[in-house]
Amino acid sequence: MKIAAGKIADDNILSEVISGLSKKTKHLPSKLFYDKKGSKLFDRICKLDEYYLTRTEIKIMQDNIEEMGALLGEGTLLIELGSGSSIKIRLLLDHIPGLAGYIPVDISEQHLIESAEILNKDYPEINIYPLVADYTKMFEIPKIEKKYDHIAVYFPGSTIGNFTRNQAKEFLRRMAEAIGANGGLIIGVDLKKDISILESAYNDREGVTADFNLNILAHLNNELETNFTLSNFEHIAFYNEEFSRIEMHLVSKIDQKIILGKKEISFEKGEHIITEYSYKYAIKEFAELVSDYFYVKKVWKDGNDLFSVQYLRVK
Ligand code: AVJ
Repeated sequence: MKIAAGKIADDNILSEVISGLSKKTKHLPSKLFYDKKGSKLFDRICKLDEYYLTRTEIKIMQDNIEEMGALLGEGTLLIELGSGSSIKIRLLLDHIPGLAGYIPVDISEQHLIESAEILNKDYPEINIYPLVADYTKMFEIPKIEKKYDHIAVYFPGSTIGNFTRNQAKEFLRRMAEAIGANGGLIIGVDLKKDISILESAYNDREGVTADFNLNILAHLNNELETNFTLSNFEHIAFYNEEFSRIEMHLVSKIDQKIILGKKEISFEKGEHIITEYSYKYAIKEFAELVSDYFYVKKVWKDGNDLFSVQYLRVK
């Protein structure tokens, strides 16, 4: 197994954070949730009663995996964006006939190698080509020696929901270009539903989501030597109906200033930092969103229409 280094746009976190916190409405990029602690907290979120997304997606995969494998078919080169969703990827690895290879893509080299090594032990017959890259920017599909017929990109978890509509379109455009003819995208998409179900999923009783949200500040303290006091901020999450998205914010409990590089950032009591959008789609809206570059070949849902897994083919 050889690790290929992809293109990681020299992603200057400090300048991104300064720019996000200097805006009139303060923002932080959601990718900053996932330091070591944040990834652990996210794993705990996935097991919460209120967080229906992960278990529903797994159930949809389990219930339909034969059909998925057959649809993807012989000679698939499988590329997973954001490696580590091990139960789900194993289902695909087990059920795609004549799989040509598997390329897990992740921005964190350590996480990527650890999960690829475990899979390599369990699937010695599958060619695994781990790729370190930031797929939200750009990545090129590495040249592999094995012949393949077509590419299938796997993008689970409704991570597409973190993108605004414009960002999602730009992402889909790049994906269609990288995948090319005969290929497709298997994508998890969270669906519109009762607001109370949505809001509970992001306001769990144990407060794990609150810790996850606040941990973004701890991550900044570690990485950029900011001096946020976590207890001076409060987690809120609510459904914004106009934009069909869950929004997670951190609200300043007091007037305060924090140090960021050479700058000082002031917060008024009650001021918000937006940390995440999580868009929810109706099946038709999603088909419309992708329609410039993909057509929807198949939609699988759970019995309660909470979540969908979709197979999109490049147009
Ligand atoms: C991994 C981006 C799909 O939006 O539901 C979970 C992240 N945020 N709880 C989501 C998340 C708060 C999650 N995604």
